[in-house]
Amino acid sequence: MRLVLLGPPGAGKGTQARMLEKRLGAPQVASGDLLRTAVRSRTALGVEAKRYMDKGALVPDELVLKLVEERLSQPDAASGFILDGFPRTVAQAETLSAMLKTGAPRQLDKVIAIMVPDEEIVKRISGRRTCKNCGAMYHLIYDPPRNHNLCNSCNGELYQRDDDAEDTVRMRLEVYAATMRPLLEYYERAGLLKQIDGIGRPEEIQQRIVEALGPAGAAAKGKPA
Ligand code: AP5
Repeated sequence: MRLVLLGPPGAGKGTQARMLEKRLGAPQVASGDLLRTAVRSRTALGVEAKRYMDKGALVPDELVLKLVEERLSQPDAASGFILDGFPRTVAQAETLSAMLKTGAPRQLDKVIAIMVPDEEIVKRISGRRTCKNCGAMYHLIYDPPRNHNLCNSCNGELYQRDDDAEDTVRMRLEVYAATMRPLLEYYERAGLLKQIDGIGRPEEIQQRIVEALGPAGAAAKGKPA
């Protein structure tokens, strides 16, 4: 299955994508994670991208597209993927569509938009902690680690993302508000869009996504996340 998850910062795209990976047997491809890896590795692309990410602005298309195209060309994404955080603009959506048509023609199966109001987003982002070692995600209140500041799975140290500072989050929300409507309209016109309520426990939201996927979701590997 070729799926796109849209939604504001902190909507739970990453949380849901990781749960869906197991269920659908398709890898999560998160543009934010690809960018953060490039930043940590201090590649030329990462250094350039960091200037935008630190401000909460969108990274220029040519940088993001290069990373996403490379990732989607890997064998594990040949028969499906879960895109998280990409596309962010209509221009990126058009490039994705063109990208999928090269070689063996492929197209998206569904675009799910996870809708969450701003006040909940602020709560989710301010409590988010991520493992430095394995990338596992926690929330100080909704999903706290068993040991303070340590990952349940690998005991790695938990950290707060640089761009989760209050001012940067505000900017990310403004960017989202300015870019998302045309993107939603684009996928609505393509007949691919389903909007779901993102309030509730992660398992409840997962269930809404599976229902929104219709028969394709039901026919998936069927493993509960
Ligand atoms: P990116 O990494 O994509 O960040 P984002 O879209 O702002 O989304 P987040 O990762 O903050 O949140 P999420 O929706 O994944 O929520 P999560 O599951 O973590 O982008 C970062 C930056 O990179 C951008 O600002 C931009 O600069 C750049 N960038 C990335 N893609 C780009 C692109 N395509 N083009 C240009 N620039 C790009 O959940 C959040 C927290 O809530 C967690 O703590 C989680 O445990 C908790 N939580 C999750 N679900 C629930 C729930 N149901 N109830 C309670 N808590 C929950």
